[in-house]
Amino acid sequence: MFGQSVATMQAAVSPRVHFQVASTYDAGAEIRRAALWGLAQTPKQIPCRFFYDAEGSRLFERISELPEYYLTRTERALLEAHAAEMMGTLGDAPMLVELGCGSSYKTRLLLDEATRHGEARYVCIDISDEFLHQSVHELSTAYPRLAIEAISGEYGPALPLVPSHSHARLFVFLGSNIGNFTTGEAVEFLSRIRSIMQPADALLIGYDLVKPHEVLHAAYNDSEGITAQFNLNILCRLNRELGANFQLDGFWHEAPFDPVESRIEMWIASTREQTVSIPGIDMTIGLKQGERILTEYSHKYTLGSMANILESSGLCVQRTWTDPLNWFAVSLVRGAGART
Ligand code: AVI
Repeated sequence: MFGQSVATMQAAVSPRVHFQVASTYDAGAEIRRAALWGLAQTPKQIPCRFFYDAEGSRLFERISELPEYYLTRTERALLEAHAAEMMGTLGDAPMLVELGCGSSYKTRLLLDEATRHGEARYVCIDISDEFLHQSVHELSTAYPRLAIEAISGEYGPALPLVPSHSHARLFVFLGSNIGNFTTGEAVEFLSRIRSIMQPADALLIGYDLVKPHEVLHAAYNDSEGITAQFNLNILCRLNRELGANFQLDGFWHEAPFDPVESRIEMWIASTREQTVSIPGIDMTIGLKQGERILTEYSHKYTLGSMANILESSGLCVQRTWTDPLNWFAVSLVRGAGART
């Protein structure tokens, strides 16, 4: 079914578009596996990748526009101001390899530069077939000089399918998505990218910086309560997909900043002692009053702490752009020892 819809899409869009399936993602099996494991841990946990069902993705779009959530607009401003320099070192006919389709607005700032003087290639990797379809459709119409390769699947199986290229490739990982990994996971992920980078290739990575705690706190505890809805939506998902009976009025959102770990931690706390049954995984869990379920880490870096992570991954920073308040950074990174 999946392969068929992709093939149809390819024919309908353009001969400049090519689809590959790296791995078929069985979202149902994944959420069952994660809930079965995570809800048996102490503390209980549900991985943040399960935020992004249709409603969660819609809520995240709203978060990106909130006055308190400075991340998206600060990174966008950096790309707007410096896209030419970011792309400038790559030379002719570059290939952009985007990890997660992200906001096509940000991608477009880079693609505008990539296609300014001729043809370019864009490889887009995403776990969501739906995101890929949408992005590819819009971009193929907007950029007649762009050849597009969409790879659907998780990063692990998708990365080896990234085509080689006679010119430089720029891997792009924006939005401080790196911050949702633990440090160990971040090093593992970046090392994997490093392992497929050729000497002329580079990585453009966007990451959030440590800043006054009130600013961080407000970004994850917004006054309209959208982040709270985004967090609690993960329980709606367990109700819908696993037949669970989480009562939403029995939980609240917490997102404190931990200065030792340098991260915002998102938790769902139980307002009372309660029992929840989850028939989809044949599980019943008990929650004490105040007991918390961990849903997300969002790490905040210094330029130095990110340089250390990159160094541990075999990468080194070539250039970094920050905003005037030093709230967010985008770094152009190369393989340690690669030519610049
Ligand atoms: C996607 N990710 C980088 C966001 C972040 O800020 O860590 C997700 C998010 N969580 C709460 N608000 C936004």
